[in-house]
Amino acid sequence: MDLDKQLKKRVNDEIKGNKNKVEKDPFRLHYHIMPPVGLLNDPNGFIWWKGQYHLFYQWMPFKTGHGAKFWGHYSSTDLIHWKHEELALAPSDWYDKNGCYSGSAIDFEGKLHLLYTGNVKDESGNRETYQCLAVSENGINFEKKGPILNLPSQYTAHFRDPKVWEQDDKYFMVIGAQTKELKGAVALFSSNNLTDWTHEGMIAGGGEGKLKNFGYMFECPDLFHLNGHDVLIFSPQGIEACEMKYNNVYQSGYVIGKFDSKNCVYTHGDFEELDRGFDFYAPQTTIDNDGRRILIAWMSVPDQNEQDHPTTEYKWLHNMTIPRELSIVEGRVRQKPAIELKELRQNFSEGYVKLDKESKAINFSEGETLELQLDDVDIPNGMLELTLYGNARLLYSNEHSVFTMERKSYVDGTIEKRQCKLDKLHSLTIFIDTSSIEVFVNDGEESFTMRFYPYKNDKVIQVGSTEKCQFKYQVWNLKKVF
Ligand code: FRU
Repeated sequence: MDLDKQLKKRVNDEIKGNKNKVEKDPFRLHYHIMPPVGLLNDPNGFIWWKGQYHLFYQWMPFKTGHGAKFWGHYSSTDLIHWKHEELALAPSDWYDKNGCYSGSAIDFEGKLHLLYTGNVKDESGNRETYQCLAVSENGINFEKKGPILNLPSQYTAHFRDPKVWEQDDKYFMVIGAQTKELKGAVALFSSNNLTDWTHEGMIAGGGEGKLKNFGYMFECPDLFHLNGHDVLIFSPQGIEACEMKYNNVYQSGYVIGKFDSKNCVYTHGDFEELDRGFDFYAPQTTIDNDGRRILIAWMSVPDQNEQDHPTTEYKWLHNMTIPRELSIVEGRVRQKPAIELKELRQNFSEGYVKLDKESKAINFSEGETLELQLDDVDIPNGMLELTLYGNARLLYSNEHSVFTMERKSYVDGTIEKRQCKLDKLHSLTIFIDTSSIEVFVNDGEESFTMRFYPYKNDKVIQVGSTEKCQFKYQVWNLKKVF
């Protein structure tokens, strides 16, 4: 049996052999994409193709650590119900033997094409990088075509994560890079056939312009058109924390600008973080049949206490965020839960809460997972506080115009927080799964994402305020689809 087949068999055996253990985990999520076993990281190859969404993912099936990555594969017709497909790519060739790293998908002549990074390391740990192509007629079985690009001389071997798109009868591709001067950068390429590529230069970072001193590596770039602008998303590494900003180990955010496809020049504004929570990295977007720009991110951050998650005992680690629809409002990217998530709703209840320096529980049908919507929030003074399942808190201080997300650390039980400035709080959309929370503030003006591990008997939502305050709420339990 060749290596590719051997690896595929090993992966299937690993899934089967650990199924019972994995499924016993009480923190297994109900409506978030997870790996069947092992570690999941970046979303890859996200595409709407021939009537289905395809979402591939970075996958280490054999342990809950990183290593020679595979491409796992989920498909869906509605962004809610996902089918785990056969393994898409295995690190079985000389050019990807230490990992089929992140990449993207595109249709070309009716076939699904994947562009990904082949990661290669020698015995002393020296890295090589190959940008590779794999092609499929049915969207399930892929034939590797090998490397299609040589590393341009300006960059170190930290050069990966090709994201490809079609524009003006051409193909373009951005790649996350590090210059020889150790600056994070985004490299641009163009092609007519997805096989022969021309290096058009750096379009962001690289020790120039607005991102001049902005870390030593940009991972997972994604450039796309949105509401009349061109948004570049990327995940920079090596940025120092600065007050409320950049508090995770690595960041993930965007700049908004204009891409001149003729001259291959991109001009852009300042960097903004996409999400203010603890766990959000390497997002990837796609445009679907309805013309929506949908984003899915990895709900974790590399090197950020990954092995301390309690799920590692059950042989799995990490998950994706819910799919989010993007738009630009007043010069900033907004994220809203994809409308399809409404399909998960059941057991509705609603009410109106008036608080006066007191705290009370919000009534909802017992269930582990829920969507909670707060509207018409009126906090003339003081602070509103929501305690979620005894383990997490959301706070808004009118006095300081600051929104805060807190959790009990899963590492040592201390309270940790993430914050951002917010002029006014109007509404909150909160998605709670068995061990994750995603909060959308003011209709997606800000989002906060995190994993958390609530106690079994503490499924209560407590609201409190330091002064008079009121709001309307709606709450639903959410169906289990995984
Ligand atoms: C981001 C990343 C990518 C790389 C992949 C490897 O999390 O480091 O740059 O392609 O993960 O799994």
